[in-house]
Amino acid sequence: MMINENALPLDYLGRPLQDLRISVTDRCNLRCVYCMPKEVFGSDYPYLARDELLTYEEISRLTRLLAGMGVRKVRLTGGEPLLRHDIERLIEMLARIPDLDLTLTTNGALLTPEKARALRDSGLQRITISLDSLDDSVFASLNDVEFPVGRVLAGIDNAAAAGLTPVKINMVVVRSVNLDSVLPMARYFHGSGHILRFVEYMDVGDSNGWKLDEVVSSAEIIQLIGDELSLEPIEPNYLGEVARRWCYTDGAGEIGLISSVSQPFCGDCTRLRLSARGELFTCLFASSGHDVRSLLRSHVSNEDVSATIRSIWAQRDDRYSDLRSARTVGRPSVEMSYIGG
Ligand code: GTP
Ligand code: 5AD
Ligand code: SF4
Ligand code: SF4
Repeated sequence: MMINENALPLDYLGRPLQDLRISVTDRCNLRCVYCMPKEVFGSDYPYLARDELLTYEEISRLTRLLAGMGVRKVRLTGGEPLLRHDIERLIEMLARIPDLDLTLTTNGALLTPEKARALRDSGLQRITISLDSLDDSVFASLNDVEFPVGRVLAGIDNAAAAGLTPVKINMVVVRSVNLDSVLPMARYFHGSGHILRFVEYMDVGDSNGWKLDEVVSSAEIIQLIGDELSLEPIEPNYLGEVARRWCYTDGAGEIGLISSVSQPFCGDCTRLRLSARGELFTCLFASSGHDVRSLLRSHVSNEDVSATIRSIWAQRDDRYSDLRSARTVGRPSVEMSYIGG
């Protein structure tokens, strides 16, 4: 029997590899309390040094190999990916790989009209922007650096004007902090053409002091919004889509609910994550990654790199969110800013 060397590898639980999330830096210009709290990520925090980061050539070589193995969607993340120098050069390199959905998640702080156009011109197709409130004081208490909401809203407009559409907006809801911002956000983006997504607050990393009673479930959000703006569920765009889609019955667009705590989606999880330092993580909640940087820097052939990845994926049995309730206290978990949201 012939063996197809490039056959799509299925992991240990039968899941294909389809998405790659690439963290290009572990730094960020905001200090969101649920992600990089200031007390932990201070000026003495040991961020990665420049020569520890994968180069754009290394990232694109790896991505090309992964695309050959089934990856169809690539998301650039961080930290804040727009902090990485000349990110457009990486986007240009990745945009040359055929049939890839190429997108990026940003806090929008650096998204001027020029930057948005440059990203689009280099081949970025769409963008997701994080925004947790329309209220400056609430937003400041979440991002901890007094960053004004107006600048993020301008970034959203700039992205849309540059054609990075549909623009998606991610709002993480933390009960004691921004629950009251849910309805104003829904009203603001209702009919805007942008897709607002509500993200359940997750216990990722070891820094954010997560508590279950701070999580606002998607069901609660739907109830809250649905009481004012009528909603109905719609079909996913593709199998394994992270966000559950709901549309406004008045035709004013859709919202998304990302329910990784109340309704985990590990069974369909097709994502592989590449850290800025060049480790592959098979789960957002993994304690450690698989070093591929040293492999890439040791002049091995593409076939050998592919064989290593294939074996990492074949052994993948992660389903952390499914098992969350059984989580053992004290288990170390990698920070989201390091591994990439
Ligand atoms: P789109 O195709 O643009 O909809 O991308 P996406 O659905 O992957 O969304 P995005 O990358 O914006 O992810 C939104 C949020 O969902 C992330 O910031 C995380 O908070 C959460 N998330 C994404 N992937 C995973 C995952 O694999 N596991 C868990 N537990 N949460 C995830
Ligand atoms: N819980 C849920 N989402 C988080 N993000 C970062 N930290 C968390 C967390 N603890 C996500 C947000 C943000 C993206 C960059 O990472 O969705 O938009
Ligand atoms: Fe930065 Fe995004 Fe983390 Fe906020 S959530 S600290 S913007 S990486
Ligand atoms: Fe995938 Fe891990 Fe998230 Fe489950 S917890 S969906 S396996 S990244």
